[in-house]
Amino acid sequence: MKKQIKHHSITVVVVLAILALGAGIFVYSGVYNIGADDPHTRPVFALMQVVRNRSIHLRSKDIQVPNLQDPQLILKGAGQYAAMCTGCHLRPGMKNSEIRPGLYPQPPDLAQTHVDPKVAFWVIKHGIKMSAMPAWGFSHDDDTIWSMVAFLEKLPGMTPQEYQAIVAKAPPDDDMDSGDAENHEHGHPPTSKPVSPEHMPGMGGNPHGHGPAAGQR
Ligand code: HEC
Repeated sequence: MKKQIKHHSITVVVVLAILALGAGIFVYSGVYNIGADDPHTRPVFALMQVVRNRSIHLRSKDIQVPNLQDPQLILKGAGQYAAMCTGCHLRPGMKNSEIRPGLYPQPPDLAQTHVDPKVAFWVIKHGIKMSAMPAWGFSHDDDTIWSMVAFLEKLPGMTPQEYQAIVAKAPPDDDMDSGDAENHEHGHPPTSKPVSPEHMPGMGGNPHGHGPAAGQR
């Protein structure tokens, strides 16, 4: 009897060793196609979806959602969205972008898709590994991220005209391409006026194109 158990354990160890070796050879050989134009197999995709969804759920379920109906917050979010998100997530009336077809996973069309506010806040702040979704929390405070979430609550179903109107009214965003996007802070309140040069000592000009730096790109 004892001998038999010993025999079994040796078999188990040998099988595990062969599996580990096989996995090592598979990984190291390079046969796995890492290309973004080669979709995952169904089981791999299903597994990744569960990992993603459970991970986000665990981390976002206790987030306190502020008042997302504040018109100033929504307006600020419109400017943020127009400046940073449409290339990947589109806007009303936009069918596709140059970057979007090549991204895998494909970014959802947020002009058509509603996302739970807690999930949206967490994903915008922290990003998603191995996808193109950046962690905007490195460069944006929580208030600014909530403004984006507030805007996303209104976005699905907006007409292109409504979208253009709200973006036109939005406060100028620090991230709008002005040639010095890296040095901005986002500590100002949601109702902030356009950033003036005094707020940015030594930056040599107004980032919104009215001052001496206009035209610097
Ligand atoms: C470079 C492309 C890219 C940019 C720019 C980008 N995203 Fe994403 N985003 C993605 C991708 C890809 C995903 C999907 C990742 C996944 O599901 O694994 C995603 C997912 C999301 C989700 C989660 C959607 C869901 O159904 O759970 C939200 C919300 C989101 N992005 C908001 C934003 C906002 C707001 C901005 C602008 C501040 C932005 N994203 C900018 C690529 C991008």
